[in-house]
Amino acid sequence: MVDRDAISEASRMILSSDWLVGFTGAGLSEESGISTYRDPGGLWDRYPEGASGGIMGILRRHPKAFHELFSELLKKFKNSAPNPGHYALVGLEEEGYLKSVITQNGDNLYQDAGGSNVLELHGNAFRFRCLECGQKRMFSREELFALVEDVLSKMERFSIELLMPHLPSCKCKGKMRPDVVGFGEAVQKLDQATEQANKCDLMLIMGTSGVVYPAAMLPLIAKENGAKLIEINPKESALTVRCDLFLPGKTGEILPMIVKKIREMKLKKARK
Ligand code: APR
Repeated sequence: MVDRDAISEASRMILSSDWLVGFTGAGLSEESGISTYRDPGGLWDRYPEGASGGIMGILRRHPKAFHELFSELLKKFKNSAPNPGHYALVGLEEEGYLKSVITQNGDNLYQDAGGSNVLELHGNAFRFRCLECGQKRMFSREELFALVEDVLSKMERFSIELLMPHLPSCKCKGKMRPDVVGFGEAVQKLDQATEQANKCDLMLIMGTSGVVYPAAMLPLIAKENGAKLIEINPKESALTVRCDLFLPGKTGEILPMIVKKIREMKLKKARK
């Protein structure tokens, strides 16, 4: 049962904040049918190599897992759509409370829900980057799914050499790779995200285990800088001990409650 007092407290903190920043992980998209990484049944739970080497770590170790893994990811992404948690966050952005969202997710669901001020630390699965000239191009859902289906129909097992001919081509004729950040690769937008962490007076942490760096450093920077931290997660994470308010539960259930409470409080204040 969600604690109503905690919902009211979170709403009061957001209403009195000058610069609210969101920090999100895979848990925000769990209710959209995209499994997390480290929860039971999650990607790294089933493919332990992923925890240290990511998708490439799995494919290096199990080239034949390529088909099963990407068929599953394709199916889940195809069936995925923004959930009430994404839309509630967009509501907070549109009402001027939420200044930016720092995300570890690459599923584009927050943007699909209408979100705009997003800093993607781990890239985006729908964006491709040219290996020659660095040019980037966003693919539509249809384009990406068609590409993955095409590759799956032509490749039994995985190797970079086998994959290269199937990668999309850039205007410069170079090959384009998914603009996602693999383990050991540099994260993106870290300067802008650090700036937001320094600037915020309140950070809303949603659906992350808080164990992957440098991403997990950002809530700590915000805290060091005097910001308050609110966390929403069905279970405690590595960040909970630093948080001022912990709301045990799912983002798709709790975020809409917070937005509703904020609107009630505003109305009540206006009537006074
Ligand atoms: N609502 C809120 N939180 C949820 C929900 C939900 N519906 N379902 C699960 N969670 C929480 C889990 O309790 C867990 O703490 O989401 C968290 C998911 O943690 P991880 O699977 O570790 O995902 P994340 O923190 O995003 O991983 C960080 O690790 O593997 C890399 O690049 C990958 O971006 C990823 C990074």
